[in-house]
Amino acid sequence: NYKQTKLNCFQVDPYCCQRRTPLQHHNKLLTDAFEILEENAEYIESSNDTKGYSRNLAYRRVLAVLRSLPQAVTSVKQIKDVKHIGGHSQKIIQELLEEKCCLEVEEIKRSVRYNKMKLFTGVFGAGVSTARRWYDTGMTSLNDVIQHNEDRSTAQKYGLAFFDDLNMPVLKAEAEQVKSIVKNITESILPGVSVTVTGGFRRGKTVGHDIDLLISHPKEGAEIGLLGKILEKLQQLNLILYGSHNKCTYSERHFTEEPRDPPTNSQMDHFEKWFGIIGLPKISTEKTVLIAENDASDKSIKDLVDLSKSEKSWTAKRVDLIIVPSSQYFYGLVGWTGNKMFNRDLRLYAQKELNMRLSSHGLYDLTKGCLLTSNSEEEVFKYLKLPVIPPELRNC
Ligand code: CTP
Ligand code: MN
Ligand code: MN
Ligand code: MN
Repeated sequence: NYKQTKLNCFQVDPYCCQRRTPLQHHNKLLTDAFEILEENAEYIESSNDTKGYSRNLAYRRVLAVLRSLPQAVTSVKQIKDVKHIGGHSQKIIQELLEEKCCLEVEEIKRSVRYNKMKLFTGVFGAGVSTARRWYDTGMTSLNDVIQHNEDRSTAQKYGLAFFDDLNMPVLKAEAEQVKSIVKNITESILPGVSVTVTGGFRRGKTVGHDIDLLISHPKEGAEIGLLGKILEKLQQLNLILYGSHNKCTYSERHFTEEPRDPPTNSQMDHFEKWFGIIGLPKISTEKTVLIAENDASDKSIKDLVDLSKSEKSWTAKRVDLIIVPSSQYFYGLVGWTGNKMFNRDLRLYAQKELNMRLSSHGLYDLTKGCLLTSNSEEEVFKYLKLPVIPPELRNC
């Protein structure tokens, strides 16, 4: 009887937003391997491939299924009929269960290309296509890229110079520290404002690669012009190392009622936002201290490298600030909590199963032709006819 239970096949809902996916799951041996395959597929795929079949996406779906299983897979038979796990993935799972490792994965881990692509995509401001260009040019180290005389975006210059700081995991306490700095500044400009830590930390992660802060005010419209003032203050306090402020027009800020854009899997939204790098004091002090050099896009990469190597009392940290109008808050919260795969399936599910269009701005019912406003995260799930999945179980 016990043996039979162990061989029971797993039942899996097709969309990951229907499943509960904790951070700590039961199949780490398998997911560690599939994470390598997923990354490698992303490095290999060309960006104009994404309309057709994507191996990277297929592996991400396998990963999402494995992370959501209530028990460890002990036999490949258990997942024979599970959606999203195709023949090749089943072979890999079988090999992993039998040998505790997989030849294809071990070969990738040893390959120069994989390791260099991993290094180069780890640079803030450099995506897969930039990393590939650096790799194809014959560069093999960050120093090569720094020395090489090529056009680089300002973001990439900072990413290269502050690589060590930015690749140090951001701790939850540091996220809270940045949140209170931003909260104090913002409250002094606009009382009653809310600042929320979202992203991975809201999903229960203890470390992250950045700090995602949602900024909103109960009075719709009060948030207009706020971000510029926050940035001015951060600048005065010398906290900003680098930043890019995406302003947007008023009409873009509001979810378009006419469903003219087809629902997409795009993560792009139209919120006014800032993504950048701040210099966070290493020791939390009561007083704000002058810590970082001001943003200077004309700074040479050599100056930036010197600055990063200097004896400094701060660490460079990636920060995203997103301004969300009150009426869109809970959709923005869901979108910025993620994870990316959860959002992707949430939007796909809404489109395919409910004929609704979901984005970080709202939910539009295409059948009824109306916008569904929400006053809580629970309500978003209710509209979508899904069980309420708490943030800690959205780690697909
Ligand atoms: N996101 C978004 N629009 C963007 C960037 C991100 O909606 N332009 C969403 C993503 O769906 C993601 C969440 O915001 O789930 C946070 O993004 P990110 O910081 O990239 O990832 P995290 O999940 O926070 O992971 P990490 O801990 O590595 O930062
Ligand atoms: Mn990836
Ligand atoms: Mn994040
Ligand atoms: Mn982010």
